[in-house]
Amino acid sequence: MVMRSVIVGCGSYLPARIVTNDELARTVDTSDEWITQRTGIRSRHIAAEGEKTSDLALKAAQAALAHGGVAVDEVDLIVLATATPDQTFPATAAKVQAALGMTRGAAFDVQAVCSGFIYALSVADNFIKAGQARTVLVIGAETFSRILDWTDRTTCVLFGDGAGAVVLRAEEGQGTSEDRGILSTHLHSDGRHHDLLYVDGGPSSTQTVGHVRMAGQEVFKHAVVNLAEVVGEALAANGLTPGDLDWLVPHQANRRIIESTGRKLKLDPSRVVMTVDHHGNTSAASIPLALCEAVTDGRIQRGELVLLEAMGGGFTWGAALVRF
Ligand code: UT7
Repeated sequence: MVMRSVIVGCGSYLPARIVTNDELARTVDTSDEWITQRTGIRSRHIAAEGEKTSDLALKAAQAALAHGGVAVDEVDLIVLATATPDQTFPATAAKVQAALGMTRGAAFDVQAVCSGFIYALSVADNFIKAGQARTVLVIGAETFSRILDWTDRTTCVLFGDGAGAVVLRAEEGQGTSEDRGILSTHLHSDGRHHDLLYVDGGPSSTQTVGHVRMAGQEVFKHAVVNLAEVVGEALAANGLTPGDLDWLVPHQANRRIIESTGRKLKLDPSRVVMTVDHHGNTSAASIPLALCEAVTDGRIQRGELVLLEAMGGGFTWGAALVRF
């Protein structure tokens, strides 16, 4: 017998305002053609003035709890992944905790940028396996629009705002890959690549928030290699092959990166969940947003094998294999 973290509910929230490529092309030197061809992005959601990461996270969390039929007072822990917290401190998770009316348990943030949701899922899974929590809310929420340099066309066209959440519940499994729940998580980081993707500000360095800086092509090259490696690692750890997979739910940074991973796994493109076209890159929110979309529209069914993967600033990267 092993303890498994089963996804019993998922929910998401996107700000109302949709910004198209054409709209961006009015303010920066870019075009719908360039953005679509290079990234697959057609539009993204942007948070309203005053709408904060915790506001998006709260709505996604409420939707996930409702979907799973889980009451707030059952939740032992909130793990929230974000690189765009409301404030330097306290954790955005604690704000969500209060807004949910949750007065027990614990809440904290995890910072692994675009890999944040995989990191948060891994942390939550380990709390459940260790017997320290039974019901955990895992949230990925971002307002990346607030840390973009809107005059830098190489970054500002790529990102969007949003939030997604899942509710995990402890259930006993047999310890085989037939179990429902998270089968394994695999985390990596390599801090030597700091300069390829970072924010040029922070409380301890500049006392400002800063803006995203990225050497896109370099990040791209690392992403395709690291993601191929980590998905292989996740399958091997469970004695599975790509042919066993029902779905790939990747971080949504670039259609070409996603297609490259899908091709390496020899997955039919219809088995790869793609939301980058209408969400852009929502960093830690992108995987739960994509997962939730495919669960809500009925594509992902209970019992199916789902591979999640992401790569982001740090560098950080990781994967999680989940039987839904
Ligand atoms: O989520 C975290 C992880 N992040 C990623 O995975 C992002 C990985 N990187 C990428 O997705 C791609 O590298 C980008 C989409 C960022 C860029 O695509 P690329 O094919 O690597 O383009 P590039 O950076 O090599 O730029 C090609 C050209 C350059 O012009 P020159 O030097 O060839 O004249 C850029 O200045 O495209 C130009 N360019 C643009 N043109 C129009 C860069 N941004 C734009 C733009 N509109 N927005």
